[in-house]
Amino acid sequence: SLRRARVLQLTLAVIKPDAVAHPLILEALHQRILENDFLIVRKKDLIWRIGDSERFYAEHEGRFFYQRLVEFMSSGPMRAYILAREDAITRWRELMGPTKVYRARYTSPSTIRAQYGLTDTRNTTHGSDSEESAKREIAFFFPEFSAEQWLEEEEPCFR
Ligand code: PPS
Repeated sequence: SLRRARVLQLTLAVIKPDAVAHPLILEALHQRILENDFLIVRKKDLIWRIGDSERFYAEHEGRFFYQRLVEFMSSGPMRAYILAREDAITRWRELMGPTKVYRARYTSPSTIRAQYGLTDTRNTTHGSDSEESAKREIAFFFPEFSAEQWLEEEEPCFR
């Protein structure tokens, strides 16, 4: 488990309501996670209340897209994952591609957002952008999760 602690990084990945609404896209994204050698540490399907959405995106309050973002993110079911991998944070963000879908399609057509994104709001996925935000976001979605405990478990994956 010491070796695992050194090599693996945790990140939070979220499949947003637009992608969860489409069973084939949801399945494709799940496969994409597995194909890219992420370990699925935890997985949870959930629906946010508007208040959850506002707390999660508090840093964007006041921006022109804030209202539509918080409404969209509490508009239907989503799926959250804790993923583990070497460089998990960067690798998941590379897989997602740029936030803005038109840019994703133009500059990185093989990314998730380029392939499945609809708009800059309905852009299929979220991923933590730093170790600090991964810690905060994992605790937000999985308050019961302890990384230290997980590292000591015999079979830590696929919950
Ligand atoms: S920015 O512009 O660099 O601050 O954008 P970013 O930090 O990457 O993400 C902002 C989150 O808000 C969502 N969102 C939008 N961003 C930009 N423009 C528009 N119109 C917009 N609408 C919604 C965007 O998807 C990011 O959500 P997350 O869940 O963090 O990926």
